[in-house]
Amino acid sequence: MINIRLEFRDDIKSLRDFFNESERYYVVYDSNVKQFISEIFSNDIPCFEIKSVEENKSIDTVMDICRWLISMEADRDVILVAFGGGITSDVTGFAASIYKRGVRYLNLPTTLLAQVDAAIGGKTGVNVDSFKNMVGTFKQPESTIICPVFLKTLPAKQILSGFAELLKTFIITSEENYNECVKSISSGLPVWEMTSLICKAAQAKADIVSKDEFDKDLRRVLNLGHTYGHAIEWYEHTNDVENPMTHGEAVAIGIIAAANESFARGYCDESFIDTLVSDFQKCGLPVKSPYPNGVLISAIRQDKKGMNGQLHMILPVGFEKIVID
Ligand SMILES: NC(=O)c1ccc[n+]([C@@H]2O[C@H](COP(=O)([O-])OP(=O)(O)OC[C@H]3O[C@@H](n4cnc5c(N)ncnc54)[C@H](O)[C@@H]3O)[C@@H](O)[C@H]2O)c1
Ligand SMILES: [Zn+2]
Repeated sequence: MINIRLEFRDDIKSLRDFFNESERYYVVYDSNVKQFISEIFSNDIPCFEIKSVEENKSIDTVMDICRWLISMEADRDVILVAFGGGITSDVTGFAASIYKRGVRYLNLPTTLLAQVDAAIGGKTGVNVDSFKNMVGTFKQPESTIICPVFLKTLPAKQILSGFAELLKTFIITSEENYNECVKSISSGLPVWEMTSLICKAAQAKADIVSKDEFDKDLRRVLNLGHTYGHAIEWYEHTNDVENPMTHGEAVAIGIIAAANESFARGYCDESFIDTLVSDFQKCGLPVKSPYPNGVLISAIRQDKKGMNGQLHMILPVGFEKIVID
């Protein structure tokens, strides 16, 4: 069992105090959060900008970060700071795991999805050609600092994407939090005011990861909705679909698909599917794939969760109960 460190901050000012410590921070930041840089970091902290698009989630970007560190003569006692969404934490964590055989890093996530998921758990990775997350490492951040204030500038589509992961976590861990979450989202409460739910979801992920750091067993439940969700993302990518779904939207459809599969195998009641469909729709999430099932099958076969020719289906039996079939 490992200890996953999370910290929660209500305002940006307290972050400035945090980064005033005597540590030597090197910040990798997403171009879309540039406006916060001067509020948080003093002028003498070195910063490196990346543009967060999946094409840049590559080994080339990791090497660019390493080259920058070399040019700055960064030694082994520096701390990299990943300031941005999941793309930023994935490439920065990867760079931290290999630069000079490993330096420390901190996650300061700025998307909802990263605050409740991507920036927690120590999986780092990059895409190889059109294959997502094919190369990566396990490297735990020193800490993940969660400050929902950053979500004030996050586009609505990205907020929706994070809602899907938030709901996924609560389907797995807490019916009570799930219901509160549906209520908050459907009532139109601004996401940056959902501090308590964000903290609970982040903690729930940390608790699962702490029992299965290397994704051998328990952690697999977090892939609920991802087998089908990844297939949709892969299909859209390989067919150059205009305005593709966000990761969360694809996962939302994937969760409903998993519930349908669960019902077909006799694990859950039809009423459970109805509840999820109605709640997801109330939250503005899609529930049905616009693509024919057949074309997604080959993508599912490629999914990295298929091991030794077998595919692990993550199926919900109900709230707080998942089977891996
Ligand atoms: N390592 C893991 O365990 C893990 C888990 C889940 C997802 N991921 C990865 O995370 C990535 C998705 O993460 P994401 O959804 O955070 O995507 P992202 O990093 O691409 O961010 C989404 C968009 O929001 C912008 N943005 C970020 N913060 C902003 C802010 N505060 N205001 C305005 N714009 C902002 C970004 O520039 C980008 O355009 C995927 O590559 C996925 O594979 C990793
Ligand atoms: Zn996900």
